[in-house]
Amino acid sequence: MDSEKSMKVLSVASECVPFVKTGGLADVVGALPGALAPLGVEVRVLMPGYPAMKAAISEDAKTQELGRLPGGRARLISGPANGTDVMVLDSPRLFDRPGNPYLGPDGKDWPDNHLRYGAFCRLAAQIATEGLDGWQPDVVHLHDWQAGLTAAYLKLGRQPAPPSLITIHNIAFQGLFPPEAATPLGLPKAEFHPEGFEYFGQLGFLKAGLVYADRISTVSPTYARELMSAEFGMGLEGVIAARRAEVHGILNGIDLEVWNPESDPQIAMGFSAKTPARKAKNRVALAQRFKLYAGGAGPLFCVVSRLTRQKGLDLLLEALPRLLARGASLAVLGSGDADLETGFQAAASDNPGRVGVVIGYDEPLSHLMQAGADSILVPSRFEPCGLTQLYGLRYGTLPLVARTGGLADTVIDANEAALQAGVATGFQFSPIAAAPLADAIDRACDAFADKKLWAAMVRRAMRHPVGWETSAAAYAKTYAELIETAA
Ligand code: ADP
Ligand code: GLC
Repeated sequence: MDSEKSMKVLSVASECVPFVKTGGLADVVGALPGALAPLGVEVRVLMPGYPAMKAAISEDAKTQELGRLPGGRARLISGPANGTDVMVLDSPRLFDRPGNPYLGPDGKDWPDNHLRYGAFCRLAAQIATEGLDGWQPDVVHLHDWQAGLTAAYLKLGRQPAPPSLITIHNIAFQGLFPPEAATPLGLPKAEFHPEGFEYFGQLGFLKAGLVYADRISTVSPTYARELMSAEFGMGLEGVIAARRAEVHGILNGIDLEVWNPESDPQIAMGFSAKTPARKAKNRVALAQRFKLYAGGAGPLFCVVSRLTRQKGLDLLLEALPRLLARGASLAVLGSGDADLETGFQAAASDNPGRVGVVIGYDEPLSHLMQAGADSILVPSRFEPCGLTQLYGLRYGTLPLVARTGGLADTVIDANEAALQAGVATGFQFSPIAAAPLADAIDRACDAFADKKLWAAMVRRAMRHPVGWETSAAAYAKTYAELIETAA
């Protein structure tokens, strides 16, 4: 390795924008290659061959037959897709399935997910150790449980193997399977113990990543600390705490081109910190879209989220009477748990003109919501980083967030000291419960009533740095350290 200037990284992930996305993981995997390129880091992304992925890869991509992998015959397709260098595991028996990458038509995990992602990890380790057409990575960057087993194959397989970093995007998803699942994956029985890939009697893909990878990172400094506690670590707190010196918290950034309020083609009218009146046009368009009465005295709040327990939206349903009492309104875009979907739908039909709900996944609408709302609500019970509050900052839609994980690290609460110092960019609440959330909504409504104060906060939020610059440099530094230690 000559210097930091020419590092080759194999990024192993199960989602990547603009091809396949169920959450923020896809945004981050998709943004990192572009963010790292100016630092001399060449990233190639290895993805499973979902139909959408195969459709996206260019016609002149290279194809080669692969040796035996779990799940049968497979090929590797490599080439550019939408400006990113990708490699795709084409194994029709495993991945030729439309829709959500992890779930079958019954809404349950595919029963062969261990084979699907096990084969994927085997291939990742193979490319890393043997190289591909003269290209061999200096570092392997693994994302979440779907890539976790790669670290085990690298450590327990043929040497020398390049060093690996695993990033935890969400510890709630661990990839747990019965112990027998280890056999077709060729994992040595001798490593099935708590210091190996066993997680309380099961095979744990993420556990394997945390044990065998050379470094661990997660997507915010606060979540890195939280993960070492029983409250947040979901049974892996001990493993992470034992490696504390090798654990990094590196904040996610956002793609400043895709999320640019001045040039966003998906909003009603472009705006900047200097043209707040143009933001108001988006507010009108948003109110129309959700059939809300836009003339009320209070702020227009929005939510763009998976509707799951993690996101704390049941607390918002509880706090809703206070929001409505203050003359505020609410627009919700999301899908997920049935009780939350019906809860918000009932709130909308009980409060016409005040609460509007769209159940579903709608990328263009998510842009209009960030552009048109006054404030975005993110009351998560835990949040490794969170991206929607970052979009909110960039679009002058002040985030109101639970004080946890990346939310705590990216939003500056409008408490008295912060207001005096002129640094506040949003609102935080803690402990994470309905009453403190309602109090924070009250504070936001008070701030909104003070037009001068609100406008100053909007301008400040829009200037807050939310790009990749600092974090891309932190990843590049981590890669360089790994390479140096391995040399
Ligand atoms: P998580 O990954 O836990 O879902 P993040 O905040 O990191 O949370 O990322 C969520 C991403 O998914 C953001 O890009 C957000 O805009 C997007 N998103 C979530 N729900 C929807 C939806 N219903 N429609 C459009 N985009 C959505
Ligand atoms: C996860 C987390 C979210 C984070 C995203 C990208 O899905 O829930 O907080 O922003 O990954 O790292």
